[in-house]
Amino acid sequence: MRIDIVHIGAAELTYEIRNIVIVAEKMQQLGIKTNMENIGDPVAKGEKIPPWMKQVVADLAMDDCTYAYSPTRGLLETREFIASQTNSRGGVQITPDDIIFFNGLGDAITKVYGMLKRTARVLGPSPTYSTHSSAEAAHAGAPPVCYALDPYNNWYPDLEDLRKRIKYNPAVAGILIINPDNPTGAVYPEEILREIIAFAKEMDLFIICDEVYQNIIYNGQKTKPISDIIGDVPAISMKGISKEAPWPGARCGWIEVYNEDKDPMFAQYIKSVLNSKMVEVCSTTLPQKAIPKILTHPEYPAYLEERKHRYEKFSNIAYKRLKDIPGILVNRTNGAFYMSVAFEEGRINGDQTLPVKNKAVRELVAKLISAPDVAPDKRFVYYLLASTGICVVPLSSFSTTIQGFRITLLERDEAEFRQIFDTIATGIEQYLASG
Ligand SMILES: Cc1ncc(COP(=O)(O)O)c(C=O)c1O
Repeated sequence: MRIDIVHIGAAELTYEIRNIVIVAEKMQQLGIKTNMENIGDPVAKGEKIPPWMKQVVADLAMDDCTYAYSPTRGLLETREFIASQTNSRGGVQITPDDIIFFNGLGDAITKVYGMLKRTARVLGPSPTYSTHSSAEAAHAGAPPVCYALDPYNNWYPDLEDLRKRIKYNPAVAGILIINPDNPTGAVYPEEILREIIAFAKEMDLFIICDEVYQNIIYNGQKTKPISDIIGDVPAISMKGISKEAPWPGARCGWIEVYNEDKDPMFAQYIKSVLNSKMVEVCSTTLPQKAIPKILTHPEYPAYLEERKHRYEKFSNIAYKRLKDIPGILVNRTNGAFYMSVAFEEGRINGDQTLPVKNKAVRELVAKLISAPDVAPDKRFVYYLLASTGICVVPLSSFSTTIQGFRITLLERDEAEFRQIFDTIATGIEQYLASG
């Protein structure tokens, strides 16, 4: 090329949650029967969409207006519905003009970081959901800046670390919180959120709070949406229907902007996010039409309750099966539907293996692990997949140096779920004992 055409942040765009599928598919072709526990799509894992919900969508599909563009911010009636839901909690009050719809939160995340000045950084958790860390790092053309989540303390944010990272890095303009969290399944107590907000206020920062799992909390845990406690700190809450309805294929999510009027520069930045959506015209119309109808349907509360009940039960099965295995750190999942298992420091290395019967698969693994810079946990994930067919995601691909893996709790069949966790438990023990 005459000049360099590669974006400064190109190398930061990685998404191991889907990359690992390419490896799994190769193994399938070589005869391995796989259990895909890598991706947070309840529908792909067999969640049955209830007939009443399908009927809502089917009826809307018969209405010509759902085939039209929608306003750039999103349909007014839906934004009015969402604003009234948020306002009814009694915290910060918003209008429909404080809401912008996107084609899934993936789209919102790309634009929210993409419109930030390149030198302004958002401090995110580590480990973190890679769409956030990749988009933030790509905007800056530099690796993500992070605060630690502590596997020795329920994966809660290490507040001392967070404070230090902000104090000593003047480029930090905002803090990202994901609550409930992906990849850890942690639900943050109100006091932790309040401390982060207070620190943001003290340091004149804004907050991004990804609350896409806000209604998927169980095991008696309590937290607060950021709108309840944000006070006058400028903030963006991210919400959507991918996980809750669940309807990830709708590509529909939104941001709620709090306290835009409290800081002119924040207001200017939010306007640029809106303008970047306007240049693209608008987001998907039909799912926006469906949101009030689904969320107020008389059968919706019981449906969501049943799913939460199942995640609660399965989170306890998974926790009990893994918690006493020496060499790993296990926290019970209390929200969303992921579990992050960490290896204690120094427990995995470049020599450990699991038995792989199929010769072609063995050769494939040998090739994969001989690539430069294969993290020890990625090596474990390849062996687990080759030896047992269970596909999980290396924790190191979630912006952390902590070695481990993330698994979903989405398998619906209890016997199959127990079998998967028995197999993983044995796999971990065998792997750690092998070298
Ligand atoms: C924390 C978090 N935020 C956002 C998303 C993306 O959601 P969407 O389907 O709306 O793009 C996910 C998907 O896994 C997620 O876990």
